[in-house]
Amino acid sequence: RTVRIIGAPMDYGANRRGVDMGPSAIRYADLADGLEQAGAVPVDDGDLSMPRAEERDPDADQPSRGNAKFLREIEDVCRLLSDRVASTLADGEFPLVLGGDHSVAIGSLTGSARAAELGVLWFDAHADCNTPETSPTGNVHGMPLAAVLGRGTFGDTEWAPATGLCESAIVYVGLRSIDERERTLIRDSEMTAFTMSDIDRRGISAVIEDALTIATDGTDGVHVSLDLDWLDPRTAPGVGTPVRGGVTYREAHAALEAISRRDEADDILRSMDVVEVNPILDEGNETATLASELTASTFGKRIL
Ligand code: ARG
Ligand code: MN
Ligand code: MN
Ligand code: MN
Repeated sequence: RTVRIIGAPMDYGANRRGVDMGPSAIRYADLADGLEQAGAVPVDDGDLSMPRAEERDPDADQPSRGNAKFLREIEDVCRLLSDRVASTLADGEFPLVLGGDHSVAIGSLTGSARAAELGVLWFDAHADCNTPETSPTGNVHGMPLAAVLGRGTFGDTEWAPATGLCESAIVYVGLRSIDERERTLIRDSEMTAFTMSDIDRRGISAVIEDALTIATDGTDGVHVSLDLDWLDPRTAPGVGTPVRGGVTYREAHAALEAISRRDEADDILRSMDVVEVNPILDEGNETATLASELTASTFGKRIL
């Protein structure tokens, strides 16, 4: 299959510069080679162009943006990205989005869900379902799931109606840092949340099988959203919001290999984003290298 690499060097959604260099760092870590070894045909679309943050006002006025920062810029980029993802799928190719911060998922999810019933596997330490009203930080990378589910008000853009994502097909894996209001939202929603404690008790393989079953039930396939802070910061230090107690290198590969095996059998993978790699905070590009290797595992690269 042809995998179209779409760089989204977005950092408007995070409070630290540096994630905008994620796409180049992941490419530099032999992403294309890894995809070829997985049997895919990578085609690089280059990067979406971003307005420079220094020239923008994070608090530019907009109706009902709450305390969300750079909401206008993020909307513009995500609208572009959404169209790019949708047209890639329409051409029969696989959109692989390289972030950038996790706000890019607003674009990739809405683009991918437009033409399909979509399940979502969200690998993250964080729940990323704050709204502009509930967010403790104002950083939109902590809000993408609320945006695509139509929770809260995101300026003058309504992402949810055209997207039609079904909450019950959204599954978190590996949560360990949840804000108070996010906890209420998750409990009152139909989303499924597997936390680190589920992984402790049941093991990653059992958890990922359940996650796959839920996300593929009644859907046309899944979107994989991989936030590198899902992993333990000792393994993935190059992220802006590290939380200790994350999955290990082996658990991460085991989970993504399980997705590739299910995909081989049932053709379930539709789109993916790989986000939050921050080369400024990294040690010798090891987090980008991990991102590249985990992506290859998702597409079916095997040890033997
Ligand atoms: N929950 C925190 C917030 O809303 C942290 C979010 C971190 N998200 C991420 N994609 N790294 O600001
Ligand atoms: Mn849909
Ligand atoms: Mn995170
Ligand atoms: Mn995230």
